[in-house]
Amino acid sequence: MAAVIDPFRAISISRIAHALKAEGRSIIHMEFGQPSTGAPPAAIAEAHRVLDVDGMGYWESPALKARIARLYDERYGVQVSPERILLTNGASPALVLALSSRFSPGDRIAIARPSYVAYRNTVKALHMTPVEIACGPDEHYQLTAAALTAVDPAPAGVIIASPANPTGSIIPPEELAAIVAVCRQRDIVIVSDEIYHGLTYVGRTPSVLEFDPDAFVINSFSKYWSMAGWRLGWLLMPENHIEQARAYMGNLFLTPPSLSQHAGLIAMDQHEVLEGHIEVYRTNRALMLDALPALGLKSIAPPDGAFYIWADIGHLTDDSLAFCEQLLRDTGVATAPGVDFDPVEGHRFMRFSFAVSTAEVEDALSRIKPWFAARA
Ligand SMILES: Cc1ncc(COP(=O)(O)O)c(C=O)c1O
Repeated sequence: MAAVIDPFRAISISRIAHALKAEGRSIIHMEFGQPSTGAPPAAIAEAHRVLDVDGMGYWESPALKARIARLYDERYGVQVSPERILLTNGASPALVLALSSRFSPGDRIAIARPSYVAYRNTVKALHMTPVEIACGPDEHYQLTAAALTAVDPAPAGVIIASPANPTGSIIPPEELAAIVAVCRQRDIVIVSDEIYHGLTYVGRTPSVLEFDPDAFVINSFSKYWSMAGWRLGWLLMPENHIEQARAYMGNLFLTPPSLSQHAGLIAMDQHEVLEGHIEVYRTNRALMLDALPALGLKSIAPPDGAFYIWADIGHLTDDSLAFCEQLLRDTGVATAPGVDFDPVEGHRFMRFSFAVSTAEVEDALSRIKPWFAARA
């Protein structure tokens, strides 16, 4: 029987936002973690160029795999062979590949609660069982070694994400090392979603590979490289699992778009443009952190990285979906309801994405201020 999974409710908010826009309303999109900046100009220029010279067949770019391998050396001082990298159509298929090729139906997979909506639902869709571990302020909204030790019996796998969606929280390096030690001891396979790497505002985010060369690592061009719709990402795994994962990739997805691979290779060297995006996010984050307490949103997760604010709205509602919809209809500001990320507590949380322009953040704040004031 097909597994029943929940919808991604931010999509329904977005649908309403687009319908309101079609009616002529001014909408600010803070519901998705989607950079509003677009691909770096040099990557777009490369896409234009190759359209005339490449037939765009099925393809896995050896140059891109080599460049990604170099990224691990540059960012983390970790040497990986390009052969351990599988190019995918984004992080979402990479997660499907990691789970389906490494685990079996019925396996228990630990995840944080709150966490990215697709972890729970992809695990379920593949007939595995999510083991959700509540992570609140005391745990920095992140999985800990102690929490993983307490799961009995040990799960087959764990999905970690640092920086995380929806909170932006980061697992400190010493805690990550402790998590790896527990997983090694208890034979738990780590799947690390590193899609928000490069987007940090406090300190440095280590890769799990610095501690565990056998982890499965997911990454994507959707966030740091600002290329969400190009559908390009990768899965990095231990050598003895490559052939199986490659078989799954070939059968389920074939290859990611050739055009995106050409453009992605160029994007990886556009440091100035990409660091410019981070400066915008840093400004946006500061504006939000400054303004939200005055709206009564005093309890928020530490946004160490990514581009989200996860805010407690329990004093205002116990229905985050209805709350976000009303906020959108009244102010034109689209946000994500907490129920997507946390089925237990999420009815009293909401998520703002600040991956928009600074002018849009300022506009959004000025629109929502009176709205929240009226409810205080
Ligand atoms: C934590 C996390 N992982 C994976 C994804 C999916 O990314 P992709 O666009 O690469 O499929 C997202 C998208 O928002 C995300 O937030």
